[in-house]
Amino acid sequence: MTIPAPHSEAVADGHPMWLPEAVTGELRDRTVTVLGEGAVLDTLRAEVARAGMSEVRADADLLIAPFDVVEDAPEGLGPEAFFHRVREGRTVIAYGGPNGALYGWFHHLRHLARGGGELASTQEPLHELRMLDHWDNVAVHPHMGQVERGYAGGSIFYDDGRLREDLSRVGAYARLLASIGINRVTINNVNVGPREARLLTDDLGTVERLAAIFRSWGIRTHLSINFASPLTLGELDTSDPLEPAVQRWWRDAAARVFTRIPDFGGFLVKADSEGQPGPYAYGRDHADGANMLARAVAPFEGLVHWRAFVYNHRQDWRDRTTDRARAAYDTFVPLDGRFDDNVILQVKYGPLDFQVREPISPVIPGMTRTRVALELQVTQEYTGQQQHAVYLGPQWSEILAFRPTGDDATLAEAVQGGIAAVSNVGSDDFWTGHPLAQANLYAYGRLAWDPTLDPGTILDEWIALTFGADDQVRRGIRSILDDSWRTYEMYTAPLGVCFMVSPLNRHYGPDVDGYEYSAWGTYHFADRDGVGVDRTVKTGTGFTGQYSEPWASRYESVDTVPDELILFFHHVPYTHRLHSGSTVIQHIYDTHFAGVERVDEMAVTWDELEGRVPSDLHRRVGERLAEQRRSAIEWRDQINTYFWRKSGIADEAGRTIY
Ligand code: GCU
Repeated sequence: MTIPAPHSEAVADGHPMWLPEAVTGELRDRTVTVLGEGAVLDTLRAEVARAGMSEVRADADLLIAPFDVVEDAPEGLGPEAFFHRVREGRTVIAYGGPNGALYGWFHHLRHLARGGGELASTQEPLHELRMLDHWDNVAVHPHMGQVERGYAGGSIFYDDGRLREDLSRVGAYARLLASIGINRVTINNVNVGPREARLLTDDLGTVERLAAIFRSWGIRTHLSINFASPLTLGELDTSDPLEPAVQRWWRDAAARVFTRIPDFGGFLVKADSEGQPGPYAYGRDHADGANMLARAVAPFEGLVHWRAFVYNHRQDWRDRTTDRARAAYDTFVPLDGRFDDNVILQVKYGPLDFQVREPISPVIPGMTRTRVALELQVTQEYTGQQQHAVYLGPQWSEILAFRPTGDDATLAEAVQGGIAAVSNVGSDDFWTGHPLAQANLYAYGRLAWDPTLDPGTILDEWIALTFGADDQVRRGIRSILDDSWRTYEMYTAPLGVCFMVSPLNRHYGPDVDGYEYSAWGTYHFADRDGVGVDRTVKTGTGFTGQYSEPWASRYESVDTVPDELILFFHHVPYTHRLHSGSTVIQHIYDTHFAGVERVDEMAVTWDELEGRVPSDLHRRVGERLAEQRRSAIEWRDQINTYFWRKSGIADEAGRTIY
């Protein structure tokens, strides 16, 4: 088996996503000069050749060169920065380092796809670490399959216990990721089973092969590890992080990895979380555990991404004092300042679990002496599982723009450890199951690069690259996707109540009480008078007290809490009047009826695009929209009926509720 050349026609058997041949069309037969050496520059040379350009020594139409040889190029920028100028028919891409050259090239393609024109701009990512995490299993997991929370077929890396024979898809994927500025990838699931744990030991060769593909696109490879490996792989009788033999085991393991993969990124760890092992078994805390691993990879400049997703999943629903929302803060904030510099605490954006609407996790602003990374979920576990068209750009943009202490830094600026997200791709022909879910992967990369980008502009870029310059297609897809996240919110769990999803059907579809009497946490407390979780300091679980001002006070009071989060923070009567003027119960009815109507409109708009987009893609999206409609109606009717039966309050508009 050979590693495919980075420029191979790797997507021959799959959709090209946002890099179809057409995007380089107008560069064919033009001339280019590429200055610089190394693996990533070789990749770039292959890219320009693939575009049909010919390399010349001087007077080229396109010059790609390091900052220091380009006159007027900016100074003092990092290796991923580039300067892009188009003037009088000539283009200059000046770069800080090899990745900057690659990013500048793809930026130029974006520019051409959107009509080109003269410009001069300097780009540098806000964060050094822009990561995608794969929840891919090596062996097929009995409940989760090949990809945990995967909605796009099998893994592009593994197939039934082995690395895939044909890795051409991985090459194509790496190219797509490089084109949106992703520079780190974790290749295996955070839930590390016995088979996956061996990636670090016996199976290192497979990791080495994947890392070689990613490396040629400027992407460094990371591995999820199992904290108990020294014990479970049978070599020691403990995995106590303070035990010298355990520390030695990890140092040796790290040395082996870095010998074979010198640019290896490091370890991603889910410890003491949902049944994964961790330091608690030995009476140690998360700083003990994380630092032990950090010291093993530190000599090689490796990183440890330690996840903050720690909570008690063996709760008693009768116990009203346990609040899962509090757990990460209670666990980690007391440890602030104790983590080594190469530990990054990876925190989900909300205190619970990638719900369609949650407040920002207070852990992120709460840990000022720790490098914190924000974790997002591109795979649509709780947002329609790539059956529903849900564009997450607006959600992420809102999260990134949130100001945790009022007027100071945005959340995007506050996260010193960069951004990570769970990938949504698989072996599916369209990569993402729902073809329009490709936009989420694209938007994630673009926002990780520049969190201030407008999600609508990002969509315009993605549409232009993917479908070309047809304005009806652009307007149609924009009208389907622009508000699709809010539409999904409208027909699913209302006003910040979380988890009304089916535990038995892998979190797909409505189940209002599915988690209400569950050991994993309780979420709505609906009774005949009202609904919501009292998380106030005054009368509830005290969660609002984990925020800084102005949010602590704003969330504490029903008068100032934002409507969309009221039920996350408060238990209120159905007749409580929202800032919108509507009562809670009427809001529930109205949004659920309107949500389904919006899905109907999406389907009509999509029908009108028939013949303007590839027919197989049109068919696939059409089928998914039909399923979205069926599911949205089910959500609407179950939620409305549930609350009508609980409250006995009729819909003011007299619509059908069962
Ligand atoms: C969610 C998801 C799990 C996943 C977990 C995590 O709970 O349902 O499949 O393992 O998040 O982020 O670790």
